[in-house]
Amino acid sequence: MQIEHNISLKAYNTFGIEVEAKRFLRITNLNELQEVLASFSSEKFLLLSGGSNMLFTTQVSDLVLYLDVKGRTIEKDSENSVTVRAMCGENWHDLVQWTLDLGYGGLENLALIPGKAGTAPVQNIGAYGVEIKDVLLGLEAIEIATGKLRYFTNAECQFGYRDSIFKQSQKGKYIIWSIDLLLTKNQHTLKTEYGDIQRKIEQAGITEIHPMDVARAVMEIRQSKLPDPKKIGNSGSFFKNPVIPESQFLRLQKEHKDLPGFVQNGGDIKIPAGWLIEKLGYKGYRNGDAGIHEKQALVLVNYGNATGMDILQLAKEIQQKVKARFDIHIEPEVNIV
Ligand code: EPU
Repeated sequence: MQIEHNISLKAYNTFGIEVEAKRFLRITNLNELQEVLASFSSEKFLLLSGGSNMLFTTQVSDLVLYLDVKGRTIEKDSENSVTVRAMCGENWHDLVQWTLDLGYGGLENLALIPGKAGTAPVQNIGAYGVEIKDVLLGLEAIEIATGKLRYFTNAECQFGYRDSIFKQSQKGKYIIWSIDLLLTKNQHTLKTEYGDIQRKIEQAGITEIHPMDVARAVMEIRQSKLPDPKKIGNSGSFFKNPVIPESQFLRLQKEHKDLPGFVQNGGDIKIPAGWLIEKLGYKGYRNGDAGIHEKQALVLVNYGNATGMDILQLAKEIQQKVKARFDIHIEPEVNIV
C-alpha cells in the first residue's frame, strides 16, 4: 500500500477534467481497503471508480481511494438462470459483453454504459427500458466506519429512478464491493419496445431474437447519439429527467403541442430534459471548450480543456433558463465534486 502524490485525475474521469489529487491510493483487495479504513479513520476520502458520473470543480485535497478491484465469477448455475458476481472495479461494458458471450440474458439493454460495476447500483443505471434494479439480486458493501462487509438485498437498496439508498440515507457510509446479478440462460425476457430497438432488429432481418441482437441494436443507437468519452469528454446525461404533476404537464402541452411525456406510477409525468434544453436552442451550443452535444441536448461535453467550473457554469445557466421558461427545476444526475 503506497500513497502516490500529485496525481493528475484527467484520465480517471470521463469528462476529462484536469485536476490533481494531492494523495492517491490504489486499492486492489479487501485487506488493503480494510487496512486503509482502519488507519485513516479520521480522514475524509474521495472514492473513485469509473469516474463516469463525476464533475471535478476544484483540486482534490481529500485522500483519493481508487477502487481497482477485479473479478467476475459464476456463483450459482441452475437450469434456467445463473448468478454472476462482479467485483466493484470491473468495467461495466466488459461485464455486459462477457455475459452476452456466454449466452446469458438480462444486461443487453445496458450495453455501452460507461463506468464500473460497483458504482452502477448507486444511481441505478438504466437505459432503453431496463435498470440495474431489474437484474440485481443484491450486493456486498463495506461499512466505512467499521470496515465490515454487509449484504444488501435488492429491496434494501431502495432503488428509484437514478436513485438508491447509497445516494440517500446511506450516502458516504458504504463502499460497494461486489454485485450479484441474476441472469437468464433461456426464456429471456427481452425488452425491445423502447425507441428504435425493434426497428433496428427488423431491419437486420432477425426473426429469432437473442440478447446479443438487442445489445447490438442498443450499441448502434447509443453510438449514433451519445459522444464517446474517449473522444469527447462527457458524463452521459448531465441532468435527470424531471417528473412534474399532470396539471402542469397539461398546461405546458397547450403551449407546446409536441412536448413528450411518460406517465409514472402515481400519475405524475416524466418529461425528457433533453427536449426542454433543445427547445431553448442549446443543442450543439459551445462556449469555449464547454458545450452541449449536437445530437443529445442532455449531454454536456468538454471539447478538450474546459474546467469543471466552465461545465458547471453552463449547467447552471441551463438550469436557470429551463426554470424561467418552463417553471421546471432540473437536477444534475452527475455528482459535482
Ligand atoms: N429529446 C429531445 N432532444 C434531445 C434529446 C432528447 O427532444 O436533444 C427528447 C426526444 O423526444 C426523445 C426523448 O427526449 O425521444 C428521449 O430521448 P433519449 O431516448 O435520448 O433519452 P433521454 O430521456 O434523453 C434517458 C437516460 C439515458 C438513457 C436513455 C435511453 C436519463 C437522465 N437519461 O435519456 O441515460 O440512455 O434515456 O434509455 O434518464 C445516462 O443516464 O447517462 C444516460 C445516457
